[in-house]
Amino acid sequence: MRGPLAGSARLLVLVACACSRALSSGAHEWRHPPQRIAVIGAGIGGTSAAYFLRQKFGKDVQIDVFERGAVGGRLATINLEGEDYEAGGSVIHPLNLHMKHFVKELGLSVPKSQGGLMGIYNGDEFVFEESSWYVWNIVKLIWRYGLNPLRMYMWVEDILDKFMRIYQYQAHDFAFSTSEDLLHALGGAEFLQLLNQTIDESMQKSGFSQKFINEMVTAVMRVNYGQGTNINGFVGAVSLAGADSGLWSVEGGNKLVCTGLLYASKAQLISGAVISIEEKIRQKGRSGGGTLKQYEVTYNSTSGLGRDAYDIILIAAPMNRKSANIAFLNFSPPIPEFSNPYQQAVATFVHGRINASFFGYQDPSDFNLNGIFTTENPKLFIASMGIVSPVKDRKAALNPLPGPRVWKISSLQPLTKEQMNLLFLSYDSNTVKTWQAYPRYSPPEKCPPIILHRRMYYLNSIEWAASAMEMSAVAAKNAALLAYHHWYENMDMIDQEDLHERLKTEL
Ligand SMILES: Cc1cc2nc3c(=O)[nH]c(=O)nc-3n(C[C@H](O)[C@H](O)[C@H](O)COP(=O)(O)OP(=O)(O)OC[C@H]3O[C@@H](n4cnc5c(N)ncnc54)[C@H](O)[C@@H]3O)c2cc1C
Ligand SMILES: *[C@@H]1O[C@H](CO)[C@@H](O)[C@H](O)[C@H]1NC(C)=O
Ligand SMILES: *[C@@H]1O[C@H](CO)[C@@H](O)[C@H](O)[C@H]1NC(C)=O
Ligand SMILES: *[C@@H]1O[C@H](CO)[C@@H](O)[C@H](O)[C@H]1NC(C)=O
Repeated sequence: MRGPLAGSARLLVLVACACSRALSSGAHEWRHPPQRIAVIGAGIGGTSAAYFLRQKFGKDVQIDVFERGAVGGRLATINLEGEDYEAGGSVIHPLNLHMKHFVKELGLSVPKSQGGLMGIYNGDEFVFEESSWYVWNIVKLIWRYGLNPLRMYMWVEDILDKFMRIYQYQAHDFAFSTSEDLLHALGGAEFLQLLNQTIDESMQKSGFSQKFINEMVTAVMRVNYGQGTNINGFVGAVSLAGADSGLWSVEGGNKLVCTGLLYASKAQLISGAVISIEEKIRQKGRSGGGTLKQYEVTYNSTSGLGRDAYDIILIAAPMNRKSANIAFLNFSPPIPEFSNPYQQAVATFVHGRINASFFGYQDPSDFNLNGIFTTENPKLFIASMGIVSPVKDRKAALNPLPGPRVWKISSLQPLTKEQMNLLFLSYDSNTVKTWQAYPRYSPPEKCPPIILHRRMYYLNSIEWAASAMEMSAVAAKNAALLAYHHWYENMDMIDQEDLHERLKTEL
């Protein structure tokens, strides 16, 4: 019989349920998977984030990726005389395991980039020049720099070894809530120290000669980051690793990794610029189910302004005004502004014949370099130049002579006609791409936060430690894991100490 008591008992149960739900407010609701996640930016950071988010959160969550320009971001090609060349991020290190995994998973092909002969020009002469005779190069290196080159190789190797711990941590799903915490987990105080000082100071302290630093190390910093040895020690070491052998690129263009990851993640691409993000609090359901906190994203697309609500947001674009320029509305405390400057870099592609006498060659027919690096000298208006091959034909011959070749010139400012006429005897076409390329480093470096708000994450924080494709992929996996662990309250998977020791004994 269903008397009045039975009824009120039912009511009590209902009330109890509602109460416990309200009490455990956060904890309870988040056990359901999120419904919608937004990723802002479809460069390698954003597209790999979409890929890792799908892995972690499963097939039901809707993932929207916003992109205001072309998918690939700083991975892009440029066309010259019917061929495409890599205009942004170009080479990938053999130990960049995320990038390696992506190309394998996506079935892309990856020819090794062809090494050629390079020389270091100081504005007056070549202080070091490779020849086609390998043994002679070694002799010349030792003659000029002693054991510095070999020691540098070991110094970088040691840093790289520690850096590679990230793959083991991430394979075990561990995440870090700041870029500094992540670096500390890899290389302890030594890595944080690298952020605090210049590569010049770091290498001096390790006993490298000033001559070696001013010539070889400077040349590598300029070719990779358009800056000198005053950049922080960590990005400096990453840059030196980028001078290793075995570097590779993706046939057809590195940006194919981004389009591939986007497709593999089954995310929806929304072509438009995100203008603002606002926190919205909604009543959940009718029966007093508590509140639901979401982010409302406003974006500008070809079909006008759009608006959508998301549970989680990952920002995968540099957040300074010149770049993403997103307004954060009604956050308290407010989301900080990042005014940290990015370094402009200009890539000029020229089909022409190099003027070897500009580089001090008496007899231009002696010139056989296909890469020219430079040291710091105010009268030098280029950072580097080198012969490049098309992305569809990476193995194309790189011989500098005879005849015209396609050269890529890196400089901070666009080249003037006069400068072009100095560099080239003649040229028939050229094309230019200007980038807000990478942070303008100035240690002691403080990385911006990764966690901008409860469930809003900033991937490009890591660029302030070092900007590279693999770093964006590492940040993407970290942010996907952080978002996942916050959502499901797995706090024991975040910022764990002594991971290296713990994972060692676990094996
Ligand atoms: C000239 C050059 C050479 C380089 N060489 C190398 C190299 O050899 N090896 C290497 O590893 N790295 C290299 N790098 C660095 C590497 O390219 C970058 O670190 C990496 O591509 C950054 O990827 P990302 O996804 O983090 O950012 P990005 O590629 O910048 O992606 C951000 C994306 O967000 C979009 N976006 C921004 N704001 C909004 C908004 N409000 N709404 C919607 N979309 C928005 C942008 O259009 C962009 O597509 C080089 C970089 C440059 C510029
Ligand atoms: C790095 O410098 C900051 C201040 O700029 C300081 O707080 C921090 O302790 C330093 N870290 C190391 C490892 O030296
Ligand atoms: C949206 O984009 C259009 C075209 O690029 C531009 O004219 C307009 O000002 C943008 N609107 C906002 C609100 O930014
Ligand atoms: C080549 O370089 C030399 C030396 O700097 C310069 O005098 C000359 O004008 C340049 N251009 C040509 C076309 O020779």
